[in-house]
Amino acid sequence: MSNDPLVVFTPSGKRGRFPVGTPVLTAARQLGVDLDSVCGGRGICSKCQITPGYGEFSKHGVTVREDALSEWNAVEARYDEKRGLKPGRRLGCQAQIMGDVLIDVPPESQVHKQVVRKAASARVIEMDPATRLYFVEVDEPDMHEPTGDFERLARALREQWEIPEIAVDLSLLAKLQPVLRKGKFQVTVALHKGHRDTVARVLEIWPGLHESGLFGLAIDLGSTTIAAHLTDLETGEVKASSGIMNPQIRFGEDLMSRVSYAMMNPGGDREMTAAVRDAINTLAGEIAGEAGIDAGLIVETVFVCNPVMHHLLLGIDPVELGQAPFALATSGSLTLEARQLDLAAINPRARVYILPCIAGHVGADCAAVALSEEPGKSEDLALIVDVGTNAEILLGDKTRVLACSSPTGPAFEGAQISSGQRAAPGAIEAIRIDPVTKEPRFRVIGCDKWSDEDGFDEEVGAGGITGICGSGIIEAVAELRMAGLLDEGGLIGSAEATGTARMQAEGRTHAYLVHDGTEHGGPRITVTQGDIRAIQLAKSALYAGARLLMDERGVDKVDRVVLAGAFGAHISPLHAMVLGMIPDVPLDKVTSAGNAAGTGARIALCNVAARAEIERVVGQITKVETAIEPKFQEHFVAANAIPHKTDPFPELRKIVSLPSPSFNTHGEGDGEGGRRRRRRG
Ligand code: FES
Repeated sequence: MSNDPLVVFTPSGKRGRFPVGTPVLTAARQLGVDLDSVCGGRGICSKCQITPGYGEFSKHGVTVREDALSEWNAVEARYDEKRGLKPGRRLGCQAQIMGDVLIDVPPESQVHKQVVRKAASARVIEMDPATRLYFVEVDEPDMHEPTGDFERLARALREQWEIPEIAVDLSLLAKLQPVLRKGKFQVTVALHKGHRDTVARVLEIWPGLHESGLFGLAIDLGSTTIAAHLTDLETGEVKASSGIMNPQIRFGEDLMSRVSYAMMNPGGDREMTAAVRDAINTLAGEIAGEAGIDAGLIVETVFVCNPVMHHLLLGIDPVELGQAPFALATSGSLTLEARQLDLAAINPRARVYILPCIAGHVGADCAAVALSEEPGKSEDLALIVDVGTNAEILLGDKTRVLACSSPTGPAFEGAQISSGQRAAPGAIEAIRIDPVTKEPRFRVIGCDKWSDEDGFDEEVGAGGITGICGSGIIEAVAELRMAGLLDEGGLIGSAEATGTARMQAEGRTHAYLVHDGTEHGGPRITVTQGDIRAIQLAKSALYAGARLLMDERGVDKVDRVVLAGAFGAHISPLHAMVLGMIPDVPLDKVTSAGNAAGTGARIALCNVAARAEIERVVGQITKVETAIEPKFQEHFVAANAIPHKTDPFPELRKIVSLPSPSFNTHGEGDGEGGRRRRRRG
């Protein structure tokens, strides 16, 4: 055994012997220990900080003496004086190994640091971004060796960072000479290398050491809203999150009406493309401003979106997506330049990655959910539902994953509901109806108290109660059913039949009065028969989609249900089950994944290997097309009843007993909803 000192790194446990005088950074590199460095060991970036441990470490079989590392040197002293090193820390590129030593690499010094999501489920994202910073010293020009500045930069990156080949845009080449000279031939470059690239591309260059960081945007481009997370590409930290309405709404509320707009109006697709790109630029500028960073430092953007949004973002006419066989122009992932999408608000050379689409109706947003929730790694059979204007549904476990999209329409988002509104302060988000008195109590967004609690009116304030949002209407319909005010077929009872004056006649049907604010100039909020029908249509479409996947898989029950989407986070599992939105499972097997599509976008932004992974996974997902599947209609009609015409829902019935009134006085069949024309979008 050599007499060279033993070096043990934690937390990796990697160990090896190195000659006296070897810098810790060099030892780390040789052992493959994850220790960061932007300046390449020049003592200026401070990314290589380590914490040596002194004393007896029997677990690691090493005893560390006080002189195990070289003395604190001038570079470290200067750094400490200027910026301050935490007590006990050393710079790994300066401290040299003198004896056996234990070296801890703190999380912030790891390149592949793990970022834990703040949301309930502890999904970790490993940092491995496609774009990184490199500090290099470039040889100065020499008349005896007539090479170009770019070639000398490429050589420096090869020699100092083992980057074999780089490419550069003309726009950046024009900046290269002044930047090199300004930095006295010391520069930092941002290099992008995608998972399929062999050549790294220079996206930006700064004189000297660039210390203001690099950023990326993870964008969830929905039909209704566009949400963006501005993320630090070194730490994975979300610096700011923001959203705006998708301005395409003025061309049509849902996807199909936007496709129709493109069909009916020559150039309509281009109008919608321009509108959405414009909005993304506005959003990018705003979010950078909010985080206080220069938008030019945004060098990567990842998009997740449904197929129609995907095509409209790319400037592709979505007309083929409006008719069978729903052909996508491309289903593969795309890596583009920001300027190809007119994204002028961010770095013009920024790279854009768009996740692959699964099928003509199952988009990159669903792929992002698959990346975040990983149904293909699940031991038990999981049904994952991303509820929005369309519901994206995934069913799978380790053996196989299936996906479909189902046209739920906007009712779950509070649209097409008489008192419906988007989830915003003043909207009723939760409601309970007393089964005996039939009286409601409710909670509105922006106020923690229930409506029957003291101080509710004061807390709701001047804005008052304005309407019902998606989760509120789901609860309202389920509560009406549990209170015996609504029958299995979805018919609402009269005041006489139900014994409550809350049931008020409205034409030939009835409506349940939730709140009457007219005395104070506020709205009268009711749940009408039409609202119930709209919810029945939406929930039947969702359930039928799930059943179709279960048929394909050959099962009639699933082990667990995951509700994804911002809206999914607010749905009460009990009420969703009473309504028959989701298949019957024990209530504790229904969980919320929050904005899983947004998380998937963040994972793809922070980890380049995840891009290859999702492309592989998407290739293995079985796509089921609901629009052409005859069984869909059958499932849809059966699912119209609340909770269901034929499926017994045994788990639900263990915890609630549903009354069985019948309000069908006009011979109206419960299949009315089923006979309605299906809509998509
Ligand atoms: Fe940059 Fe040590 S590697 S300071």
